[in-house]
Amino acid sequence: MSRIEEINKRKTFGIIAHPDAGKTTLTEKLLLFGGAIQEAGAVKSNKIKKSTTSDFMEIEKQRGISVATSVMAFEYRDKQINILDTPGHKDFAEDTYRTLTAVDSVIVVIDVAKGVETQTEKLVEVCRMRNTPIIVFVNKLDREGKDGFDLLDEIEIKLGLKVTPLSWPVGMGQLFRGVYSLYEKNLILFSPHGKQEEEDIFKINNLEDPLLENKVGKNAANALREDIHTLVSVYPEFNRDVYLKGDLCPVFFGSAVNNFGVRELLDCFVDIAPNPLARETEERSVHPEEEKFSGFVFKIHANMDPKHRDRIAFLRICSGTFERNTNYYHVRQEKNMKFANPTAFMASKKSVIDEAFPGDIIGLYDSGNFKIGDSLTQGEILHFKGIPSFSPEQFRFVNNTDPMKTKQLNKGLDQLMDEGVAQLFTKEDNGRKIIGTVGALQFDVIQYRLKNEYGASCDYEPVNLYKACWVSCENPVTMKEFVTRRKKDLAKDTDGNLVFLAESAWSLKMAQENHPDVEFHFTSEF
Ligand code: G4P
Repeated sequence: MSRIEEINKRKTFGIIAHPDAGKTTLTEKLLLFGGAIQEAGAVKSNKIKKSTTSDFMEIEKQRGISVATSVMAFEYRDKQINILDTPGHKDFAEDTYRTLTAVDSVIVVIDVAKGVETQTEKLVEVCRMRNTPIIVFVNKLDREGKDGFDLLDEIEIKLGLKVTPLSWPVGMGQLFRGVYSLYEKNLILFSPHGKQEEEDIFKINNLEDPLLENKVGKNAANALREDIHTLVSVYPEFNRDVYLKGDLCPVFFGSAVNNFGVRELLDCFVDIAPNPLARETEERSVHPEEEKFSGFVFKIHANMDPKHRDRIAFLRICSGTFERNTNYYHVRQEKNMKFANPTAFMASKKSVIDEAFPGDIIGLYDSGNFKIGDSLTQGEILHFKGIPSFSPEQFRFVNNTDPMKTKQLNKGLDQLMDEGVAQLFTKEDNGRKIIGTVGALQFDVIQYRLKNEYGASCDYEPVNLYKACWVSCENPVTMKEFVTRRKKDLAKDTDGNLVFLAESAWSLKMAQENHPDVEFHFTSEF
């Protein structure tokens, strides 16, 4: 198969959802369709249950599972589908944002009873910023939930998405009879926990067809006709080009746990979802069809075995062909590297691969060479965009509690920061180190991992901070003045970029007013 055929075969996407909406269940059903797993229950949920607000031991256990389920590839209708797992837990939101840089489209799962939840709102906002094509799957139709039209309104308002339903439920909860697929013009009857059989699917081109009454009863048939009549007049017709631009989201209804509505979702996904897309770099756009290889690291995972400090760097291939045992250029480190055991992830199995193509995610064993955002190329200097750090929301001073282990502590902190566990800022006035995270959980994770993997000890001290903003200024003289005047509020991140540490929204506003020529940015990429 030619390289172009390989590229056109691939569809790389992520499933995003608020915890408990059914992401793991849907992933598993998709893998079952692809024959990548043989039985239900094979995909372990890597979610961290809501009750464990600071149960970092649990996270340590979960780490092992989530390496295996970080990427799951399977074949379906001659396509290679790569699913990238995204943690739903809010404390790992940054991990999810970064994973979203490596996908070409997403499926958003929404619980019919709960509607649009906070975590979904945040993640979809990131997708919208990048115009990522989105398909919505409304799950748990076997339960009572919100009215379909109300849900569509909620999706449009809360998620800011323009929608068009491609399937529509016939009843709900106890009265759930099935879905009508506007995409395939089929009526698919629901049987709980049963395998969906061919004989449960009926072609209904014209909704006036009496077969409808026959199958779902008079009341349900009439309600469906009325609903579809309204839908057609209110929502735009599905248009693939508009979807691909991220401007129109098809919506499906179903029940993942009952494997209902999942095949329709998958078939439509295979038809419409984008093949590997171009990626922007600071230098130029990189297209998958280009002959020369390039890729970037979007995630780094520490090894479960504390005796081996190896990590796995997850690389998204953006162009060309990646080959095993071939020298590639590590742009940040300005050196060539080759990889003897690059791995691919087929469902929960890992295997060494000889080559990989755009859209693929491969795992590279790493002994500390990689940092999130790093690029590998065939010599060209490329810096992929869209992998920023976001201003953390929680801050603490970190203190070394074992002076004999200073070196270990610094090394451990550096490596954990490279993995993207948290961000480290070094104050300009006194050199003190501040750790910034999105959630409280990471502080425990860091302390635990420093002890277990690096033999270093630390404790934390509260620090009153509201935001860390990256600062820039066109005029070097003004910048110098700003740095001198505000030294006590400034720090450097691990890349040496200058960051303003604001104690409150008010102090940030004052700083902006007092230094109008200095720009304050909430992400490291501006
Ligand atoms: P997540 O990864 O998004 O966090 O959600 P997950 O798939 O783990 O699903 C959360 C819960 O919702 C699970 O129940 C799962 O069985 C259930 N669920 C998923 N899809 C459906 C559906 O279509 N209908 C109904 N009624 N339930 C669904 P749990 O009790 O938390 O876990 P489990 O013991 O069933 O695994």
